[in-house]
Amino acid sequence: MKRKPMIAGNWKMHMTTKEARELVAGILEQTSDVNFDRVDVLMAPPFTALSAVAELLSGRPVFLAGQNMHWEEKGAFTGEISPVMLKEVGCSHVIIGHSERRQYFGEMNETVNKKLRAAFSHGLTPILCVGESLEQREANQTFSVIEEELDKGLNGLTTEQVQSMILAYEPIWAIGTGKTASPEQAEEVHAFIRGWLEKRVGKEAADAIRVLYGGSVKPENIEGLMAKESIDGGLVGGASLKAESFAQIVKRGL
Ligand code: 13P
Repeated sequence: MKRKPMIAGNWKMHMTTKEARELVAGILEQTSDVNFDRVDVLMAPPFTALSAVAELLSGRPVFLAGQNMHWEEKGAFTGEISPVMLKEVGCSHVIIGHSERRQYFGEMNETVNKKLRAAFSHGLTPILCVGESLEQREANQTFSVIEEELDKGLNGLTTEQVQSMILAYEPIWAIGTGKTASPEQAEEVHAFIRGWLEKRVGKEAADAIRVLYGGSVKPENIEGLMAKESIDGGLVGGASLKAESFAQIVKRGL
């Protein structure tokens, strides 16, 4: 049984509030014929645009996510945003451990684990990103890197927590490069992740967990990716910044 697909847009550090409003309006218009019972759609705008986007999405079947957060509720952590703040502004989800956070901002598996725990204790559904660099892939370390990210990231989480989260496989070499993993390359890693999940929480629970693919997802390649058994949707960067391409991905991903 295939899980309900999810198409998620990670806007990264793009979109002023004004631009965000226009983008959301465009996406809503261009997806007006989509049956949202068949696909979950999510948007992760930058923090400054969250409330404007939340307002436009109010009453719509589209999920809102933060792109990152701190694990504490409040405190002297200049520049950080807490789970309570994300909840208050209308987020249901939060992206954790994106490779850009790991690469440029010192995110580690240990902080990922703290953030996952905090997300659960505040009723936010985390989308955990894992993935290898080109160097690691070429050194045949793909599976060991991902295994370590999963072992450490999900350390101590309950079966129910693991079952309720979303995972995203994002090979770093495919992010923003225009170089998508082939459906076969992606499926190989997705199957590995599902195997890891089966060992961790049992087959039945693992079967319910969505694993998204991210890395140069476009309208032209989403169908091939979605045709694979273990790929349950897309975490889209660049192509989520244009209403037309994001709407096309939603439609073709069904
Ligand atoms: P691109 O789709 O721009 O490659 O970004 C992927 C990504 O990092 C989504 O989180």
